[in-house]
Amino acid sequence: MSLKQYFKKAQKEGWAIGQFNFSTLETLRAIFQAGKIFKSPIIIGTSEKESKFIGLLQAVSLVKSFSEELKIPAFLNLDHGKSLEYIKKAVDLGYNAVHFDGSSLPFKENIKIANKIVEYAHKKNVLVEGEIGVIKGSSVLHKEKIDIKTEDLTDAGEALEFIKKTNIDSLAINIGTFHGMKEKGLNPHINIQRLKEIKEKIGKIPLVLHGGSGTPEEDIKKAIKLGIVKININTELRLALANTLRKVLQENPEEIVPYNILPVVIEAVQKVVEEKIRTFGSANKI
Ligand code: G3H
Ligand code: ZN
Repeated sequence: MSLKQYFKKAQKEGWAIGQFNFSTLETLRAIFQAGKIFKSPIIIGTSEKESKFIGLLQAVSLVKSFSEELKIPAFLNLDHGKSLEYIKKAVDLGYNAVHFDGSSLPFKENIKIANKIVEYAHKKNVLVEGEIGVIKGSSVLHKEKIDIKTEDLTDAGEALEFIKKTNIDSLAINIGTFHGMKEKGLNPHINIQRLKEIKEKIGKIPLVLHGGSGTPEEDIKKAIKLGIVKININTELRLALANTLRKVLQENPEEIVPYNILPVVIEAVQKVVEEKIRTFGSANKI
């Protein structure tokens, strides 16, 4: 099944497919192992920076090899691509999908570039995710609260116009979440009312939730009921990797052998992915 078909299936059956970002082999292995256990389709994400670290071509090859070996449908998405040239490169090298984040650009400019990308990507059967409404923050732990004001949220009318004027396959919207998590205390919440308004206005196009880390499970479940079919997770995976690695090295100061150090790291990341798959309802959907 193609990613497009999975979006349709998810819409019909009321679940969401997780996008899990990676930049190390350990995280990728953890994501695939979780997908395998739960028989869940998965989207693998790399931001521009993550893909520069692991290598675009290496990301394509690694995802393909895990997917073939474990027989798990996996789709590689360039996450928050900002440069047209870089997005084209990802398309050429074999990414299955690209997210064009033109949300900080003037509206007309966002439409113009999105159209160029759609034209280029669709020729190679690559899906394009557009974005309306800037999703703040980056995938780290924030010391300060990130304030999301009503005017930051995606406007339903603008979303509809964007969809009509481009031929994008899915749309990332700001409904109150942000990238990353608050170090202590408040985490992203979803503005359910705004999601309802957007969904009513735009109809069938698959909607994408960014900034999934730290968002309360009840919010996520409500959002899925209202039409979110793709949810992006990064910070919680980074946190599990970094915290576990710090701990294992502190507890075993003499140990230098990677295959002795890293299995617990993989396990910790895998647990996070497993929890998300359960929450998103994507288990047994292959
Ligand atoms: O595009 C990536 C996601 O939106 C990740 O957000 O780091 O808050 O999970 P997160
Ligand atoms: Zn994002």
